[in-house]
Amino acid sequence: MAAVSFRSWVREVELEPSVYAADFLRLGEQVESLLAAGARIFHVDVGDGHFVPPVTIGPVVVRALAPLVHARGGRLDCHLMVADPEPHFGQIRAAGGDSVTFHVEAVVDARATAAAARELGLAVGLAFNPGTSAEEAAAAAEGADLVLCMSVVPGYSGQDFLPESIERLRRLRGLVAPEQLVQVDGGITAANVRAVREAGADLVVAGSAVFGPADVGAAYASLVRALG
Ligand code: DX5
Ligand code: ZN
Repeated sequence: MAAVSFRSWVREVELEPSVYAADFLRLGEQVESLLAAGARIFHVDVGDGHFVPPVTIGPVVVRALAPLVHARGGRLDCHLMVADPEPHFGQIRAAGGDSVTFHVEAVVDARATAAAARELGLAVGLAFNPGTSAEEAAAAAEGADLVLCMSVVPGYSGQDFLPESIERLRRLRGLVAPEQLVQVDGGITAANVRAVREAGADLVVAGSAVFGPADVGAAYASLVRALG
């Protein structure tokens, strides 16, 4: 299977709506509005009730979104906040997911887990929690397209950005290979979106800042403007 990579999906810098924060009664309509506003990569948070306390969303939602997002050239970026990621890869792929990002804290051999995802035609990210060092994440990130620096303890949308994440992003950018992308997730608002970009983030995930306001397309556009 031809290798797929995040690199070809990402414009210079990409703001990614996290659908975990959506109004699920109006999910299709909200995603349509975001596509119209220019969003192309959508972040899907899969939580298992073990690695993170809540059970969140999964392949059923990926399957519902995939035709809509793919028809517009978009991608579904699946963040697996789960204790045992590998068994989920096939289901995510079959549902139309384009990538999986799993946590360094959840696997024994990140390189082997990344290879298993690639085998299925998925792009690959490696995430790390605020309690894990950028050094540890970067050392395990061989074979990943991107490294995701969590700027909140994962589990819930709507938490406050941890300010030390700026320094962690800066360190991470200096540690990973130039072709690897840096992603940040958690507590992003118009007030910090520019700072995370300047610290090295190429993909910026935003949940409540996009889906909180009534007009999600306008919220997305104003965050993109604040990104610079
Ligand atoms: C947090 C999730 C995030 C979350 C972001 O555990 O991984 O993707 O949905 O939401 P906000 O932007 O509201 O922090
Ligand atoms: Zn996430």
